[in-house]
This record gives sequence, structure tokens and C-alpha cells, in this order.
Amino acid sequence: MRSYSTTPAVGPILRGVIVSRAVTDNLARASWIRRMFEEGARLKQERGAEKVFDFTLGNPEIEPPPAVLAAARRVLDSPEPHRHAYMPNAGHVAVRAAVAKRLRAATGLPYTAGHVLMTVGAGAALNTVLKALLDPGDEVLTVAPFFAEYVFYAENHGGRLVVVPPKADLTPDVGKLEAAITPRTRAILVNSPNNPSGVIYPASAFVEIEAMLARAARPIVLVSDEPYRALVFDDVVVPEVPPLVTRSIVATSWSKSLAIPGERIGYLALSPRMPEAAELFEACTFTSRVLGFVNAPALWQWVVAEVGDQVIDVAPYREKRDLMYEGLTRIGYQCVKPQGAFYVFPRTPIDDDVAFVRLLAEEGVLTVPGSGFGMPGHIRISLTVERETVVRGLPGFERAFRKARGGG
Ligand SMILES: Cc1ncc(COP(=O)(O)O)c(C=O)c1O
Repeated sequence: MRSYSTTPAVGPILRGVIVSRAVTDNLARASWIRRMFEEGARLKQERGAEKVFDFTLGNPEIEPPPAVLAAARRVLDSPEPHRHAYMPNAGHVAVRAAVAKRLRAATGLPYTAGHVLMTVGAGAALNTVLKALLDPGDEVLTVAPFFAEYVFYAENHGGRLVVVPPKADLTPDVGKLEAAITPRTRAILVNSPNNPSGVIYPASAFVEIEAMLARAARPIVLVSDEPYRALVFDDVVVPEVPPLVTRSIVATSWSKSLAIPGERIGYLALSPRMPEAAELFEACTFTSRVLGFVNAPALWQWVVAEVGDQVIDVAPYREKRDLMYEGLTRIGYQCVKPQGAFYVFPRTPIDDDVAFVRLLAEEGVLTVPGSGFGMPGHIRISLTVERETVVRGLPGFERAFRKARGGG
């Protein structure tokens, strides 16, 4: 089964009895995810799963490349001792050196194993670096729309996520970012190619961010969350951030590029240009350990050292992007054309995105409200579905659009 449940196995939910107030509050704030899941389950039961088109999950529906699975088998069959033992908390030095070599080739910067820290996916990479950067009350700026977990990742470490609206093309409005900087700002967290919009931030945005950070009264780091870097269409080049921004940290994973999100393997790369790189590396090695990650999975470290530059075939995602984008715009939806990742993020024909998600659900189409990504008035459509689901789901998008416009 591809989906995962947020519902408990048994029993009613007794809010606030044993669970902390903070997590109880977070659960209430994130309850729309749960409501959507329950709504989807109800619809599938009522109408039959084949009549419900579920575009909610960003979980690759494809299998990893055969070379990746073959490499995993080789690691398991290896007679070499201690392949599955503890290691330095930052990861195997040989693996980090292999990643550093790729980073040197991509950026021209002198990365070494001492700049790379293997992590339990991009989520762990972000938590590891935020714990190293934040004191209670510190602020992390991000650009809407953003990956919804950022709110909780910042709060995990006593921080606060401050959301800055984007330009009309959903790229960063650096003037607005600068206006949001306070003495508590420690980091700027951006994600390109973007979940949920599929937009790729241009090099010029990072040039502006570099100039802005140079004007800041104290060091602020740019954390570039890039798990979709390899999933791009139309020959667009995703700019390398570290050559453009001095104090930059890349957080990424192979979850999407190799379709192995369940295996939990990624890394943090601290720019060799950052004056504090050595100090921050030591801090991140410690925070990764004490957050309980200890180290990234050994098996998958060896695999990505060998085949981590492979990428899934992006052609089917491009085809589904084209089908969905062209289908939606033909109906009348307004939408920035996604150039990467596997999402489409159109505007809703009415301002209330949650109400529109309900209208779509009545037509058998499940999507996620933009409010969850800091951008009301939009919906996120995930393309991690069969091509057939896109084709058969589009009439539901059309009926809901007409109803919302009062066309019945
Ligand atoms: C923008 C973004 N960042 C981070 C993550 C977390 O990725 P991982 O599965 O590697 O932890 C995701 C997962 O969907 C994501 O979309």
C-alpha cells in the first residue's frame, strides 16, 4: 500500500491528557491533513477507489533505478567487515569524499569530506542544521509557498518560521525578505525546485540574497533545501547556490532523485567559502548525534557513494506536468508553469482554498489546500500518480471550476 495513515490504530483521541501542550497545539494546526486523509478514505469507501483521484501525496510511485538496487545487493553481499557498524557521526569518510568530489565538479568550490555530513534524508539535514543555528526565539525566514514541515522544524529547536510572500511568479521577493530581517534572524530557508509550486529560483535571486546578507548586521546563513534538484524539465538549469552565496548550506537527499524516500539518506554540505564552516561542521556532527540520528544508514551511504549521481527517468513526470498544466489552463485555472519537482500549484477560482478543496473532493478529486504551504488561494496537485489518473481526474477539476464560478 502506497499511502500512510495519520489516524491512530485504535481508540478515541484524548487531546491534552498525556501529550505535551506544544504537540497538542501542533496536531490541531496540522489537523487539516488528517481531515483530508479521512475525507479521502470516506470517498474511496463510498464511491470505490477507482472513482477517486488522489493527488495529495508526494510519494514517488515509481521504483528505484535497477542499478541502485543492484548496488544495495552488492553492499549486503560484501564480505568486508564492519560494513554495518557505527562510524564517525558525520558518516563514512570515503562516502563523504565521494559526495565532495561531485560537489567540486558541480560548483568549482573546494569541497572535502570535512564539508559533507551524511543525514537521515533532507528532513534530518534541516533539523540538524537548525538545531546548530538556533537559540530559543531566533527566527528563520522562508519564502511562500514553502514545505509545510518547516514550521515544525523551526519550532523543534525553539525557533520561529517567518513567512515572506513571493513575487507574482512565486520566486523570492528579496526586498520583502530584507524588510523581514530582525536582530533575531539566523537563517533563510529556501527550496528550489519548489514544493509545492515546481518553480525554480533564478541565479539572480541568489545574487540579490548575497548582496542583502552582506548588508546584514550579523551573519545570517542561507539554507538551500534541494531534494528536487535533479527533477527538472525543459532543459532548465537549477543554479548552484554555493558559488553565489558565501554563507550557504545545501540540505538534500536522494529521496526523490532515486525514488527511495523510505530509505532515508541525504546530506548537508557546508560551503567551503563560509568562514565558520569548520565550527558549524563540528556543531552539526554533534546535533545530528544528539537528535538521535547518530548517523545516516550505513547501507545507503555505500549505495549513494557508488550510484548517487543516477537519476530516475523524469520524462513521465514531464508528460504528466504537461497534461495537467495544459488541461488546467484550458479549463481556465491560472497557474505558474512548474519547471521541476512533481507538483502543480494553480490558483483556486474562489479565494477560499479549503472550500474549493471540498468542492473538488465532491467531484472525486483530492488535493491539498495552499494554506498549508503558506499560500491560501491555491491548491497543490501531486503528480506522483499514474498518467491515467491525470487524464481521468481532469474532468473533475473542470466540474469543480464551473461550480465555483457559479456555472453549476
Ligand atoms: C521541500 C522538501 N524538503 C524536504 C523534504 C524531506 O525530504 P526527505 O524525505 O529526504 O527527508 C521534502 C519531502 O517531501 C520536501 O518536499
